[in-house]
Order: sequence, then structure tokens, then C-alpha cells
Amino acid sequence: MADCIDCNAIIPYCTVMGSITIRQLDDALKHRLRLRAARHGRSMEDEARTILRNAAGEETTPAARQPAAAPERQSPRPIEITDHGKRVLLIIGGGIAAYKSLDLIRRLKQRGVAVRCVLTGAARQFITTLSAGALSGERVFTDLFDADTEFDVGHIRLARETDLILVAPATADLMAKMATGAADDLASAILLATERPVLIAPAMNPRMWSHAATRRNLATLLEDGVIVVGPNEGEMAEPGEAGLGRMAEPLEIIEAALTFLSAHSGKLLAGKSMLVTSGPTREPIDPVRYIANRSSGKQGHAIAAAAAEAGAEVTLVCGPVALPDPPGVNTIKVETAEEMLAAVNRSLPVDVGVFAAAVADWRVERAGANKMKKQAGRPPRLALTENPDILATVAHRMRGRPRLVIGFAAETERIAEHAKAKLARKGSDWIVANDVSQSTGVMGGDSNTVHLITRDGVESWPPQSKRDVARALVRRIAEALAETGG
Ligand code: C5P
Repeated sequence: MADCIDCNAIIPYCTVMGSITIRQLDDALKHRLRLRAARHGRSMEDEARTILRNAAGEETTPAARQPAAAPERQSPRPIEITDHGKRVLLIIGGGIAAYKSLDLIRRLKQRGVAVRCVLTGAARQFITTLSAGALSGERVFTDLFDADTEFDVGHIRLARETDLILVAPATADLMAKMATGAADDLASAILLATERPVLIAPAMNPRMWSHAATRRNLATLLEDGVIVVGPNEGEMAEPGEAGLGRMAEPLEIIEAALTFLSAHSGKLLAGKSMLVTSGPTREPIDPVRYIANRSSGKQGHAIAAAAAEAGAEVTLVCGPVALPDPPGVNTIKVETAEEMLAAVNRSLPVDVGVFAAAVADWRVERAGANKMKKQAGRPPRLALTENPDILATVAHRMRGRPRLVIGFAAETERIAEHAKAKLARKGSDWIVANDVSQSTGVMGGDSNTVHLITRDGVESWPPQSKRDVARALVRRIAEALAETGG
């Protein structure tokens, strides 16, 4: 018998796992296996499998007798793998395995995946919305006919605003609904409405799993492109019941989900071009004085960065800012509104134009070539003239207009109302409106609370970092482009 790295006592038992289960190990062994599994971030079953694999390897290849690092190297996917910025909608069905889905939420979050949960009515017999909400850090959705949900998010948005829908546990009932296209509750309505990939982790009694009806449903789901992880063989919650039907372990489900997500992390805006204006403009009065707007450029730069991250070819036309150029972005630096308009015109055509710059409304008609001398009691009279409206100019172009033109509105009161009027006045498709009154700290700060005004209505987004606003906007842009023909 091979020596195990640090629990040789477990090996003799594990090598006969075919006939005994972890449940039958004595308490001391179970405890040691649990500690070891926790240390490696695996389930107890996975840990036992790893020990067996290592032991088998050692017996066939003596050179493989290695120090304690070996199990990690053999793990199919390193535990530290992360998938930042990805979103999973986790539908929790009503089965005893639902408690494992709480662990799933925690582990997905640890890997940087945002998790939104939907609990079926049956799931709430096993776990509470409170625990799912506390672990996910997001509101938990339960009812199809909940007015709040429908007006606020709605099953269509839940179905759409995710990179992957994960159903765990997928009960026999949920699988049947999915296979037949039933949509009589929130979970099944989402599953019918979605165009996103769906991964299911079935969990049920072995007889239900092997029933002809479930076999038919499974075949239909596979044909529909649903991905399936598990079920595993093992003991059931019911005493004396064993067989194929245990839900895959959270780490197995995570591995399947992350493998899928990374294989399909096709960049959202690959092949698309985007123009972003950012920062203030500076309108000279004379060589040392100027008129400008307060703008750090943080939001505009974050949008350019997020679009580049999503694979777009991005041109950023920016006024004077104290920010580094975003990586992977073609940055053109300008000073005045007229220079900005010229650079914008040179950068067209593009698929999307985002006009986040705080362009000065006026410039001095005749800026002095020399510094104006101060004369006591006789301040100069500056004749101002209007600057071109870059957003409106581009939005009203007959030729070379971007497919999607997005303006910004910095408001201090009646934000949505003013922004709607601006949408019409400027001829843009969307307006991103934010409250820049002093108390909000938006100006120059790192967070933002915005409202997205489209021709369909107003969406109020929660307060979040400017980077997250940028990423959310990029996702919406990708969705809009896909809806209007890719
Ligand atoms: O009219 P207002 O300045 O409030 O409009 C804001 C929006 O219009 C922003 O998207 C801003 O970038 C754009 N804008 C522009 N050229 C101007 C003034 C504003 O592109 N001269």
C-alpha cells in the first residue's frame, strides 16, 4: 500500500471505496479527511479521489513519489481560478441538495463571479431567501407575479442579464418543465425566456433519475444545448437509498461553470468600434487663462477602458485630465471644443459613440495672443460665442452616424425629466444621467449613481463604482448591438 502524503491511514480505507463510503469511515478519519479536503478546497469525495489517484500514480511510477504539493498539481482546475466580471444566475430547485447551493454561491463569489439567485417555491422549503441573499449580496427573486420584481427587474431581464444560468439542484420536476417549455413560475419562465447558456446539476432519487420520463426529458434538454454536470453516485438522504442521483459537488459544478465561462468568454464587443469623448475642454482667454468645466474624466476613461477590455477598437478623444491613458485605447488629446469636434469627425465612422466629455458651452470670441494686463477697477469684458455641440452634431449626421449615440447629462435636480428632454434635443439614442449636486460627490469621485434614459424608458442603476457603471454600460451596448443585427 502506498504511503499517502499526510494521511497514510486514509489510504487503506480509500482503496476500497468501491465497497465503503466516506460515511462509513470512523470519526477520527473522517475528521482528518475533512481537514485535508478543506485545506485543499475540495469536497471530501474529491479529496479521497485525489488521494487514490496519487496512490495509484505512485505505485505505477515511483518517480512520482513527490512532496505534498502533488495533489494540487493533479487537481483538474487550480482552486484559485477566478472569473472576474462574470455573472451567474443561480436557480435553486427544491431538493435536499439545495443546502449545497449555498456553498456554491459562496465559492462562486470567492472566484469573482457575481451571483444572482432565484429560489423556486419548493427550494424555500429547504433554504431561505435570507441565507441566499446574505451569501450572494444581492436581492433574491422568487415570484413571477411579484409586482416589485416585474417593474424593477422582471423575468426577461433576469433571463438576459447573465453570462450563464445555473440550475442547482435541478430536480426532476424542473427538468420536466424545462423539457416541455412550461413557464408557470419565475424559474421556469426565466429558463424559457433565456438565450443564455444553461448548465444544470440534476439531483433526485435514483429511481426518479432512471425513470423513462426523466431519461426522455434529459435527452430533450441535451438536444436543446443544455449542459449537464452530474449526478454522482452515492447515498441519498433517505436511509438505505443509494445510486445515481446525488447532486455533483459544488467544486465539480464550479469547475463545469468556469470551464464553460472561460471557453465562451468571447469578447462582448469584439469587431466593434467605439468613440468616447472624455474630460473637460479648455477654452483660452489668453495664453495663461481659460474657461473650463469641472470634470475629472474618470467616467469617460472608465468607459473607454471597459470597451477595450470587451474587445472593441476604441478611440478616446479627451480634454486635459490627470489620468493615465487607458490601456489598449487609441487616445487623442485635445484642448478646446473645436479641436474635440475635429478629432471626433476624423475618428468616424464607428459603431458606437459615447459622449462623456464636459464640453465648455462657450469660448471667448477673440482669445488674446498675449497675456491680458490687469487694470485696477477695469475688469475686461469678454465676448463669448457658443461652442459646437459635438453630441448633437454627430447624432444629427445624415451619413456616418454611429448606430448607437450615447450622451451624458450632468444634472443637479429633476434628473430624469431633464435627461429625457436632452435625449430629444440632442437626437441621441440614450442619455446616461447623473446627479452631480455637490452632496453626491460624483464630481471627481470614484462612484456614480446613474439613470439610463432610452426611448423605452428610464432605468435607475444602483450606486456603484465608475468602473462598474462603465462595464454595465458596455454590456448594455453589446446587447443593443446584438438586438439590432450584431
Ligand atoms: O447640453 P449639455 O452640456 O448638458 O449636454 C451634455 C451632453 O452633451 C454630454 O454628452 C456632452 O458630452 C455633450 N456635449 C457635447 N458638446 C457640447 C456640449 C455638450 O458633445 N458642446
